[in-house]
Amino acid sequence: MLFLAIMYLSKKYSKMMKRIITITLSFIWVLGAFATDDVWGPTGHRATGKIAEKHLTKKAKRAIDELLEGESLAFVSTYADEIKSDKNYRKFYPWHYVNMPLDGNYETAAKNPKGDLVTGIQHCIKVLKDKNASVDDKRFYLKMLVHLIGDLHQPMHIGQKEDKGGNTIQVQWHGRGSNLHRVWDENLIKKWDMSYVELADNAKHLSKHQIKALQAGSVLDWVKDTHSLTKKVYKSAKVGEKLGYRYSYVYFPIVRQQLQKGGLRLAKLLNDIFD
Ligand code: ADE
Ligand code: ZN
Ligand code: ZN
Repeated sequence: MLFLAIMYLSKKYSKMMKRIITITLSFIWVLGAFATDDVWGPTGHRATGKIAEKHLTKKAKRAIDELLEGESLAFVSTYADEIKSDKNYRKFYPWHYVNMPLDGNYETAAKNPKGDLVTGIQHCIKVLKDKNASVDDKRFYLKMLVHLIGDLHQPMHIGQKEDKGGNTIQVQWHGRGSNLHRVWDENLIKKWDMSYVELADNAKHLSKHQIKALQAGSVLDWVKDTHSLTKKVYKSAKVGEKLGYRYSYVYFPIVRQQLQKGGLRLAKLLNDIFD
């Protein structure tokens, strides 16, 4: 890059080369601006995995350690996104989200016949509880489950179908083009600038009673809980709005809380499955 900059500034460099470099750099910039990154960024998923690890029973920890051959929940949490662009895993794409109207709920909403976040989670749990399932299948669906419980706590993964969970709601993030989905997947977390370990280690201290209360209920109760936030997020920004520090100040505490709920609830599911 430095080499290119020096050459670019050098008067000796031909006009033609300058033009080629300008076009190439513009192309890279445009690609970067339009790339849709459709994930609770890796940091969010890893923080959820790391928080879950702190709340596993000894027995569950041992079983998971064996199944994942020593890899951590934080490490495997991004696997479902890594396989997303592989054609062989296309059928898992709809598992990353579920759409429903803002005034609706999962039970009454039109279902995606190809599956969704809820059916995906249910399938993972079923395989993990199945005594006859192979170790390879169990490993695969455990990795999927760790990721999907993270997605379940990203309010825009339970958004409206019309706008693809906020993906088509364009906004500005610190002066650059983004969309409401991406703000919640990654912009808020990246701007806060804490690693996943820091996020997990600095999660709010909760009493045993508070932890139990957050872990209570079923997957569908957790969908409802996140969906109540989804409604707030849709109201939080207008199309084209310029979002910056104030937005982080107001909404990052909610992101932190969602990562913590995700971690605690993932641990609850895993303790029930493996204990
Ligand atoms: N990612 C891709 N399509 C989506 C949708 N309809 N809702 C939420 N997230 C999505
Ligand atoms: Zn996403
Ligand atoms: Zn996902």
